[in-house]
Amino acid sequence: MKDQMFIHGDYVGSASGAMFDVVDPSNREVFHRVPRGNGEDIDRAVKAARKAFDDGPWPHMSGSERGAVLRRMGDLIAERRDELARLEVRDNGKPLPEALWDIDDTAGVFHFYADLAERLDNNAEEDIPLGAEGFTSKAVKEPVGVAGAIIPWNFPLLMASWKVAPALAAGCSMVLKPSELTPITALELGDIARKSGLPSGVLNIVTGFGPEAGRALAEHPGVDKLAFTGSVPTGSRIMATAARYIKTVSLELGGKSPLVVFADTPIDEAVAWIMFGIFWNQGEVCSATSRVLIEEAIYEPLMARLVEEARKIEIGHGLEDGVLHGPLVSQSQHEKVLACIEPGKSEARLVTGGGVPKGLEAGCYVEPTIFADMDESAWIWREEIFGPVVCVKPFRTEDEAVRMANDSRFGLGAAVMSADLDRAERVAGAFRAGIVWINCSQPTFTKAPWGGYKQSGVGRELGEWGLNNYLETKQITTFDRSRPWGWYLKNTNG
Ligand code: NAI
Ligand code: MG
Repeated sequence: MKDQMFIHGDYVGSASGAMFDVVDPSNREVFHRVPRGNGEDIDRAVKAARKAFDDGPWPHMSGSERGAVLRRMGDLIAERRDELARLEVRDNGKPLPEALWDIDDTAGVFHFYADLAERLDNNAEEDIPLGAEGFTSKAVKEPVGVAGAIIPWNFPLLMASWKVAPALAAGCSMVLKPSELTPITALELGDIARKSGLPSGVLNIVTGFGPEAGRALAEHPGVDKLAFTGSVPTGSRIMATAARYIKTVSLELGGKSPLVVFADTPIDEAVAWIMFGIFWNQGEVCSATSRVLIEEAIYEPLMARLVEEARKIEIGHGLEDGVLHGPLVSQSQHEKVLACIEPGKSEARLVTGGGVPKGLEAGCYVEPTIFADMDESAWIWREEIFGPVVCVKPFRTEDEAVRMANDSRFGLGAAVMSADLDRAERVAGAFRAGIVWINCSQPTFTKAPWGGYKQSGVGRELGEWGLNNYLETKQITTFDRSRPWGWYLKNTNG
């Protein structure tokens, strides 16, 4: 485990020498310490990134050359799969099989953007047919400059890859600030980048707290683009900060995503996706389908099965065999989720869960929790909890389901289940959300666009959309000198 930050190709301590604790949420024990970076460290990192961008060679290398570096980074991550996944379990708490998916996906993201970097060589320029005599024009894609990436703790290394891989593919240099709750896997990226041949200064990693290191990065005038994933209030603050120097921003924020289940869905299928939709990763998922709408005809039998299955979920340490549900990420998240559940009991019926599982009091564990019988105005129905808590309501008609699903200030994910695909497509079309699932909830693919409507964010990550976040577009228009033109001279000589 690294105990230094990564700046200009070297592992270094923080300017102040201060450190902070890295905590294992399964027992609340400190198992490591990393530097508590502040504005001075961010300044050093941004200057390194700036120099790497201005002096090159990274932004001017061919896409294939950059792609080769990214491919090696993906290979090295894949080689260290088991070790990195175990670090993720220790720092975040998630079950090992889910941590292994994260690392596989992370390697996949680097490999995908390696391909896109290579493709840039052929499509970095596009001719624009102007239809104007004597003029030709083309649009050229170029890296946006120095990117600042601020990431959350729910998928630590994977969320880093969603920003690092496309930024590097585009030719940007960058500063990455991991969450203070899960800093250790991101720090390994420095080593991986160095071994893959990434030039010094192109990727810098500063650990530290949001209001210190995070804020300094958002405010730094040397950063051209900010990419953020996390809570709505922090996203709003970052957007306001970015306004000062007119930085480009992309934001991936929270949600309260609906899952609409029609009565023609087999009960087992519905139960499986409802549970996965809210309980995987302990419900600490921005796109979790935390509001479930069930057609009246199957409401009672489906609820009965759901409760029965939710109670069977094995809760425990992420490294134990068969465990599906680990601790929440931290003491503060544990307190926050329990504090959301408590008042929920007075505005809704607690059907199951709602407490700390017996025997696991030493860790930050919360039982899979189901609420029913709340009004649409209830806080618990409307606000993001970011934990294993689902609210369930019945509906009568398709119109009513769509109206309730869309009645939210968020618009990240939305899902619909029905044997009638025409109906499912119709409902999918009516959802006001950026990511829509039909007959499933949550599967995420590197090639498809990811992001939210409304207060769930700005812009799209992943796929080609993710690469475009880190590219500027330049128009180059050429005039044919063999043609006569002298508007000013004609008019001034007259
Ligand atoms: P947060 O949004 O405050 O933190 C995310 C990242 O932003 C971290 O790296 C943090 O250090 C940084 N940050 C915090 N304040 C900052 C500031 N003023 N300037 C720049 N960077 C800053 O989320 P936090 O505190 O970890 O969790 C609070 C709640 O946010 C959670 O309970 C959950 O509801 C939500 N959340 C949503 C996520 C998502 O994927 N949509 C991910 C993590 C949290
Ligand atoms: Mg931790």
